Amino acid sequence: MRTYEQYWERRFGSEGMIWGTEPSPTAWKARELFLPHNVRTVFVPGAGYGRNTKAFSREFIVEGVELSETAVKLASEWDPDSEIRCGSALDDREPDEFCDAVYCYDLLHLFLEPERRKLVAACLNRLRPGGFLYFTGFSDEDPCNGRGESLEPGTYRYKEGKYAHFFSEKDWAAHFSGTDILETGTLHESLNGAAEGKHDYILRTMFARKKG
Ligand SMILES: C[S@@+](CC[C@H](N)C(=O)[O-])C[C@H]1O[C@@H](n2cnc3c(N)ncnc32)[C@H](O)[C@@H]1O
Repeated sequence: MRTYEQYWERRFGSEGMIWGTEPSPTAWKARELFLPHNVRTVFVPGAGYGRNTKAFSREFIVEGVELSETAVKLASEWDPDSEIRCGSALDDREPDEFCDAVYCYDLLHLFLEPERRKLVAACLNRLRPGGFLYFTGFSDEDPCNGRGESLEPGTYRYKEGKYAHFFSEKDWAAHFSGTDILETGTLHESLNGAAEGKHDYILRTMFARKKG
């Protein structure tokens, strides 16, 4: 098992439902945005233990992919209505069926530029033309932006053993050129992790439609 996978496996193994049970306000917001567009199926890459899929699984058919086997097991108990499989969201496999929408919470900022491109391409590949995307990622307005070693423009090793990309408004446009961006926003999110305690983050959000 690679170090990166071990990191998530260890965290879910020791901390369980790391960020509690309440979905992110962005999941409720995405649900509100999807509903009037007759969305039926939602794909969630990096679905974790189902904290956010649960905001969708009452109305929509939800499929997810998650790297950590332990998180997938937790998700099967917490949100049995969603179907979350173990694997990498970077693997671009031909979908059996296109989905109507993708919700991706705080996954994209975990990668360097080539992998970020891969993740966006894999998500677009699963999505039907005219389908919707709702993404979140660390904002360049977050206080951690610019801390630690610079790895590439906008990406920093902001903590021991952890790096992230901090998104500007321009970054959304650069990453999602295959879409029409319908709405962007900024949000202060508070997470109360069992091991980390309370953490405040500034996130950027983006709602877009795949061209087609
Ligand atoms: C910051 S967490 C967000 C979790 C989830 N979206 C939530 O809020 O509960 C990132 C998640 O993505 C998963 N992950 C990281 N890299 C991944 C990859 N390449 N493919 C699928 N999942 C991945 C991690 O295991 C973790 O569950």
